[in-house]
Amino acid sequence: MLKIVISGCNGRMGRAVTAMTQDDPDLEIAAGFDINAVKYSYFPVYADPMEYQGAADAIIDFSSPAALDSLLPYAVRRGIPLVLATTGYNAGQQYQVERASEKIPVFQTGNLSLGVNLLVELVRRAAAVLGSGFDIEIVERHHNKKTDAPSGTALMLAKAASDSRSDIGEYVYDRHSAAQARKRSEIGISSVRGGSIIGDHEVIFAGADEVLELHHHAASREIFAAGAIKAVKFIASRKECGLYSMKHLLSSI
Ligand SMILES: NC(=O)c1ccc[n+]([C@@H]2O[C@H](COP(=O)([O-])OP(=O)(O)OC[C@H]3O[C@@H](n4cnc5c(N)ncnc54)[C@H](O)[C@@H]3O)[C@@H](O)[C@H]2O)c1
Repeated sequence: MLKIVISGCNGRMGRAVTAMTQDDPDLEIAAGFDINAVKYSYFPVYADPMEYQGAADAIIDFSSPAALDSLLPYAVRRGIPLVLATTGYNAGQQYQVERASEKIPVFQTGNLSLGVNLLVELVRRAAAVLGSGFDIEIVERHHNKKTDAPSGTALMLAKAASDSRSDIGEYVYDRHSAAQARKRSEIGISSVRGGSIIGDHEVIFAGADEVLELHHHAASREIFAAGAIKAVKFIASRKECGLYSMKHLLSSI
């Protein structure tokens, strides 16, 4: 039985993971961390990770970039493997994550769904096959509570495309300020925010006479919670420190 801690346990994803672990005989939630330290379930909740010194085989984090400064040193000091699902880190925070992964196993992904990770592979392949005659534009849509933009997934998709084509890689988030035609080197990324949309990602390959569109639609948060549970079992069993991703998880299945 793995004892896990959920950071951001009182948020939408924290609650979805809590609900899903209740059907899993291999997992028990030992504690939760949340700035809003209210106890809604059977486990204790702490505002500051340092207040919890009990057993923990791994931590799942679905909170906010603001939580990283207390969470990372805690996990490193206690040698606890970490699943970082939070998105929106700045470059300095990402550097800290990479440093921490030299001391503990860290699993990080902008998207825990199987379908999205397959989409990433399809985008990589489509960008390579279609080549320089096609402009690539990404449109992501999320609910009106999401604070970071573009989504971590849109950035994963843009990276997959630019990894396959050496002639592109300039991300353009706003066409309003520059009144000029699109450059070949650009990948346009547009963010839509509204209502309760869980997460939609569309990658458009627009050529001279044909357009290919790849589209993923998330219908519920359960797909991310299920991915988080797979990831926490994977990271808890790593013997080696390092920065792991969905690629490692999928190749281990
Ligand atoms: N990787 C993925 O597959 C995936 C999927 C869904 C969401 N996410 C990301 O997970 C994060 C959480 O998403 P959500 O929809 O559950 O958000 P949410 O706002 O519903 O929940 C966030 C929780 O974190 C807590 N929190 C905020 N700041 C904190 C801090 N400084 N310290 C401790 N706790 C803090 C909040 O009180 C809240 O309970 C976001 O970054 C989101 O983009 C990732």
